[in-house]
Amino acid sequence: MKRYTIDCIAGDGIGQEVVPTAVACIDAVAEQNDFRITWRDRNWSSDRYLSKGAMMPVDGIDQLDGGDGILLGAVGHPEVPDHITLWGLLIPIRRAFDLYLNIRPVRLLPGIEPRVVGDGRIDTVIVRENVEGEYSEVGGRAYQGTRHAMAFQQALFTRRGVKRVTEYAAELAAERSGKIISATKSNGLIHSMTFWDEVVEETLSRHTGVELQSVLIDALAARLVLAPSSVDVIVASNLFGDILSDLVAATAGSIGIAPSANINPDRSQPSMFEPVHGTAPDIVGKNLANPIGQLWAGSMMLEHIGQAGAATDLMKAVENTLLRGMRTADLGGTASTSEFVAAVLEEIDAVASAGVER
Ligand code: NAI
Ligand code: MG
Repeated sequence: MKRYTIDCIAGDGIGQEVVPTAVACIDAVAEQNDFRITWRDRNWSSDRYLSKGAMMPVDGIDQLDGGDGILLGAVGHPEVPDHITLWGLLIPIRRAFDLYLNIRPVRLLPGIEPRVVGDGRIDTVIVRENVEGEYSEVGGRAYQGTRHAMAFQQALFTRRGVKRVTEYAAELAAERSGKIISATKSNGLIHSMTFWDEVVEETLSRHTGVELQSVLIDALAARLVLAPSSVDVIVASNLFGDILSDLVAATAGSIGIAPSANINPDRSQPSMFEPVHGTAPDIVGKNLANPIGQLWAGSMMLEHIGQAGAATDLMKAVENTLLRGMRTADLGGTASTSEFVAAVLEEIDAVASAGVER
């Protein structure tokens, strides 16, 4: 029987509520597909930061290396500045393992009414550059505490970085609609985004059959609301991709449904799977969190480790649960997190006993 070792970092807030649901559902589909997962629970969180002064141990990255993947909830705590939680855990993992692709699919799941009328169809994959761009450590502050206090932060784009994310997006677009939209802002950002445009164009000139459209990020945001059916694969910088993914998830029902896969396709190091949403301090502890984003992230993880059948079973069970009419509050329903997950577990059993084609 195949066995995999997955590191599990529930993190903070609703991460602690939705990660266990994903673990239970993944174990259930694993059993039915004849493989096992050994979970290594990592208690790395803001609570750890508050008691020990660091989000994760000094050798945390080494501890994760050698595993088959990482399932993450979210990090963020009202008493800890967000840059500490983000730069103390998530960003170091993304960068240490060179997880340069952040793949964020969103589609209208069966039975969910879109939040905005739009033009009726939402099925988009955002391919976000994940290790450089606007999220850069290059910068500083000066004249602190004076009237002339200042801050600057440099965005950092490399030819290699833009090229490799564009190549992945182009291959994905070729398998889908053949159309790719590059999110840009080269009218205002005359150095970084003109460079982005040049490298994207140059890379795509070698991909025949893929049609490129460069769209200014502000116009693209409006288009995703009004005419989402005209948008298939988006290639975007770190910041733009982050913002657009919350936007599309919300139009497709809720930010609680969307997954995010942090991947290095060379597979030499573990990739990391998480929901797009954060720790939702406003609903924490109330059994209200929508677990779909975490479950979908788990399904992407299963696909990545080579268990595509189990990945499909898991998403099918989520969709069947929605088709029963079950919804958490963010989607306008009354189901609690645990009720929703209990129904998903029932549907996983039903998928198996019906011998549904995989
Ligand atoms: P958020 O995504 O946590 O919440 C935004 C809104 O969406 C809230 O009203 C929340 O209740 C709702 N929401 C989010 N996920 C939901 C779910 N699964 N089910 C139902 N409703 C859901 O974003 P916010 O408020 O900006 O950030 C809260 C904390 O999370 C901050 O500390 C932030 O830094 C952190 N964060 C962490 C991320 C990560 O670890 N990858 C990503 C985004 C935010
Ligand atoms: Mg985000």
